[in-house]
Amino acid sequence: MSGTSVYAGVSDRMETAMSLPPTAFLDKAVFEAETDRIFRRQWMPVARVEQLAEAGDFLTVDLAGVPLVVSRDEEDALHALSRVCRHRAMPVAQGEGNAKAFTCPCHLWRYGLDGRLLSAPAMEQSDAFDRGKCGLPSFPVDVWQGFVFVNLDEGAAPLAEHMAGLDALVARDGLGDMRIVSSLTFPSPWNWKVLVENFIESYHHIGPHAESLQHSNPAFGTYVPELPDGTSFTALENPPVEGADPFSVYVGFPAFLLVVLRGETVSAVWYRLDIRDEASFDLTIHILMKEPKASDADLVTGTAEVLRHIHLEDIAVCDGVQAGLSSPAAAPGPLSHLERGLWHFHRYLKRMTGDG
Ligand code: FES
Ligand SMILES: [Fe+2]
Repeated sequence: MSGTSVYAGVSDRMETAMSLPPTAFLDKAVFEAETDRIFRRQWMPVARVEQLAEAGDFLTVDLAGVPLVVSRDEEDALHALSRVCRHRAMPVAQGEGNAKAFTCPCHLWRYGLDGRLLSAPAMEQSDAFDRGKCGLPSFPVDVWQGFVFVNLDEGAAPLAEHMAGLDALVARDGLGDMRIVSSLTFPSPWNWKVLVENFIESYHHIGPHAESLQHSNPAFGTYVPELPDGTSFTALENPPVEGADPFSVYVGFPAFLLVVLRGETVSAVWYRLDIRDEASFDLTIHILMKEPKASDADLVTGTAEVLRHIHLEDIAVCDGVQAGLSSPAAAPGPLSHLERGLWHFHRYLKRMTGDG
């Protein structure tokens, strides 16, 4: 597939950086190119390890159009498997739960937690049937700081290599010791990049968050730390006013969205995107805490309320941006120095999609 050209205009200099053209958000061909060159080649976060803690635990996820089941086997190994039956394509698992094996509901072919075909009724008269060749295809899966990532590309570089830059920034925070304490879900009728861009900058604290975050972590104090050139992630520091807590925003491209709150005790918020198509995704906001905070029910409920409130403020903006992009008069505008992370993101997209 050739370049989509929408990213060809991404500037090499922050000082001349512009927002993306509307077609980058609206065009199905752009989304298909992103699916092909990014979502099917990069490490994508799908779960936390505590969601797959025991042997037999599994959850299903659709990644870049590939229906998967992620499981933990009896040997404690994680697997990311196609959940499409090798007989006639019926999905062999749905939702999440704990199972000894995956049995296809159609003709009861039975697969192990590692994807091997264990049994298949009434296949003994078929010369074409070879049990050893009918396992569920499996994909690279690995864990970073308690986050389970899957890569649909067999030849992908190791996850640790991909996350090395981010690793250094959060090494002291103990993300691996946290667990999900609360989750909020929101159907999101926007292109995925609308949310990523909203997440990356705190310039907008002066707008939708004027009565919330702008009081605790004002827009004009936010800054992007020094990052290596050609980085595949970005970061944003949000210094507090006196009495408030600092927080940092991290985005591992394409769509690993993380906030680390460094108050008295560190906690984190993970925005997980289930990207459906060019105009929609499902968002789950997971709140992560360590003990003893994690067992403080009032604290967990209060934190969830605050995050819901903040996201409702962001929803109004994302709805507006998505609608505005459809105007024939919409066109790229210049970026503020407070939006350096967007420029990092755009350069990443340009690199990955082969534009320019
Ligand atoms: S489709 Fe799965 S056993 Fe036939
Ligand atoms: Fe926001």
